[in-house]
Amino acid sequence: MRMRKKKNLEARMEACAGLWVKDPRQLRGHWREKKPDARGLRLELGCGKGRFTAETAAAHPEDLYVAVERVPDAMVIAMERCRNLGLSNVFFIDGDAAELDRYFAPDEVDLIYINFCDPWPSVKHARRRLTYESFLRGYRKILRDGGRIEFKTDNHDLFEWSLFQFPKAGFDLSEVTRNLHEHGIQGIMTDYEEKFHALGTPINRCVGTKAALPDVPVVEGLRRRLPDFEIREVGEADLAPVLALLERRPDYFTLDGSAPTLDSLRADLAALPPRCTAEQKHYAAFWRDGQPEAVLDWVEGYPREQTLWIGLFLVDGALSRRGLGKRLMSALPGAAYDGGMDSLRLACLEGNEGGHRFWEAVGFRDLRDGQTTDGRPVTIMERLAAPDAGVEGQP
Ligand SMILES: C[S@@+](CC[C@H](N)C(=O)[O-])C[C@H]1O[C@@H](n2cnc3c(N)ncnc32)[C@H](O)[C@@H]1O
Repeated sequence: MRMRKKKNLEARMEACAGLWVKDPRQLRGHWREKKPDARGLRLELGCGKGRFTAETAAAHPEDLYVAVERVPDAMVIAMERCRNLGLSNVFFIDGDAAELDRYFAPDEVDLIYINFCDPWPSVKHARRRLTYESFLRGYRKILRDGGRIEFKTDNHDLFEWSLFQFPKAGFDLSEVTRNLHEHGIQGIMTDYEEKFHALGTPINRCVGTKAALPDVPVVEGLRRRLPDFEIREVGEADLAPVLALLERRPDYFTLDGSAPTLDSLRADLAALPPRCTAEQKHYAAFWRDGQPEAVLDWVEGYPREQTLWIGLFLVDGALSRRGLGKRLMSALPGAAYDGGMDSLRLACLEGNEGGHRFWEAVGFRDLRDGQTTDGRPVTIMERLAAPDAGVEGQP
């Protein structure tokens, strides 16, 4: 619901200046200084007019509360409520829940409340829901290990959908109920909750506790990010079309003076760097309309435990200069991160200037000089895995 513009908004906000943190970035990592004896730091996202904020902060003077609200016309009412109650353990940020890591340092927060967030019912707006996986991954960054998110909503569909988001983002679910007040009022109500409860709408609630992030196999992470491709490890039946793709890239193979054959392809599928096992090695093709459009050979856990080594990446020569390579490689850092890797590395043959430009364009930087096993000079390039890489096609 859009709120009517409040009269004298600025004057009313200024009258609450003691509770209003105008530049939260300055307090990043220092919020506890606002209440050094605080047991915990608790956030509320989208506090609206602040009934829950005010009553919770009043009931728990031992905790420090920060409420984030992006509509000042609503926030001013919440601040006035808290000021009128004389509360000294609650502060307000006129800001966006998408930017929490700019306001709070890693592990700084103990608990986050998400109460009756906007449901954004259309699938095309799903990314705006405050329980969308990427929002939850953002909250992870500022929540301490074992920290909690307490989520309440009247919206059944949003709730059922959110129950899938929490585990994907590494939160263990507990206290799941689809009728919180079935046997009488539980806990402190929000303004919206009070209204919906009075109308007889059951209130849903769950708690997500920050746990270790589940590792998603890299190939699965690529599939999620590139849903228009069939991505599968190259098997015996794929050899002929994959070889045909390699043959359409003579520019690459002339660099090392070789030409691909069925035997060399079979050998590449099995080739391993020193001290690596077959489980670490992957050689996949990206198929569309029954044709492989690119191949990627990678090794997980080489040369460091959390590094993904790219052995080969080639796009079909017939499809070059259409941005396909960049698109596929933009998906890899996020897939690597979800797979438990923290960085990606590769060796670019000296003289492969086009290749070097490409890898730089997708975020790789020179790490050091090196050599192939047969002594040819290469540049080792590296980039970080990226926690926030987008996932295309997910609602
Ligand atoms: C439906 S209201 C619920 C208000 C309150 N939590 C309650 O239960 O009464 C949702 C509130 O979240 C705020 N909000 C939505 N998205 C937000 C975001 N990304 N960051 C901060 N506030 C947000 C809206 O401005 C609105 O005040």
